[in-house]
Amino acid sequence: MIKQEKEFQDKIDADLTIEPKDWMPDKYRLHLIRQISQHAHSEIIGMQPEGNWITRAPSLRAKMVLIAKVQDEAGHGLYLYSACESLGITRDELIDQLQTGKAKYSNIFNYPTLSWADIGAIGWLVDGAAIVNQQSLRGTSYGPYARAMVRICREESFHQRQGYEIMSKMSNGTKEQQQMAQDALNRWWWPSLMMFGPHDADSAHSSNAMKWKIKRETNDALRQIFLDRTVKQADLIGLTIPDPDLKWNEKTKHYDFGKIDWDEFWKVVEGNGFCNKERIANHIKAHKEGIWVKQAALAYAKKMEN
Ligand code: 3HC
Repeated sequence: MIKQEKEFQDKIDADLTIEPKDWMPDKYRLHLIRQISQHAHSEIIGMQPEGNWITRAPSLRAKMVLIAKVQDEAGHGLYLYSACESLGITRDELIDQLQTGKAKYSNIFNYPTLSWADIGAIGWLVDGAAIVNQQSLRGTSYGPYARAMVRICREESFHQRQGYEIMSKMSNGTKEQQQMAQDALNRWWWPSLMMFGPHDADSAHSSNAMKWKIKRETNDALRQIFLDRTVKQADLIGLTIPDPDLKWNEKTKHYDFGKIDWDEFWKVVEGNGFCNKERIANHIKAHKEGIWVKQAALAYAKKMEN
């Protein structure tokens, strides 16, 4: 191990954060660019399924809350793109990687939002899963990434609360509303568990991620935290988790749960989910239609420089 690599690993082992100007192994840099960019892409693409219901929200309050949430996601994406750019990649390169399919984004955003209850399920389950993952990322070794998590986590808890409030209202509403809430839970439960990534034994990146303290907990550990917490929340509002193998294990003090369908996961991740093509087509269209904003901002910035 060269001297610099040893000094780098000693800093990681001493829980010191790595800053943009610090020396870092290329593999660490590339690992971060991969993960942070995919995180940012997920935030931006995630605006589509939710934005789909802004014009159809059931009340003015519901509409305002959803608009605030979608705006937050845009802000999360911009924080994360900025953190990623500090590693020496440009915004244009990042957007190109997303639009050409070179970069991934979270599996979860390739499912359709069929009813208002889906907006509740997304806030409750997807943002609930994101909170577990992002709270852990507050301890990540790369400084800009860890700092971006502080504000993102604060806003995510609002997202999760608003989703759970929707599900609670509907599961205590009319028969039809209860059915809509249960149907949404049935469709979003397993893809939410998949958000945490493959099982640790099958995770290509986790060993380096843990060695470099990019991840502080493993995929399975975070999945279990989310599951244990969410099962109780479902019980509280009278919804049934769609897993016949779900069972409290008094010995481990965790819930045992059924097998995740990794064929579905990889089908979606590799671009063959319900909405993958539509999500990217919308993203490309929005960039094309909005290019004048970028050109105007760049022209203004140039004028201000002179
Ligand atoms: N969706 C899509 N791809 C996934 C995935 C998922 N849920 N989980 C894993 N993958 C991909 C990985 O990107 C990797 O592919 P790659 O080599 O082409 O990048 C491959 O599957 C192997 O998985 P690993 O577990 O080895 O990969 P990681 O170590 O990167 O772990 C992760 C995956 C846990 C998602 C990790 O990248 C991570 O913690 N990322 C940051 C959090 C994040 O991106 N969350 C996405 C949701 S954001 C969100 O929900 C916003 C909220 O406001 C709505």
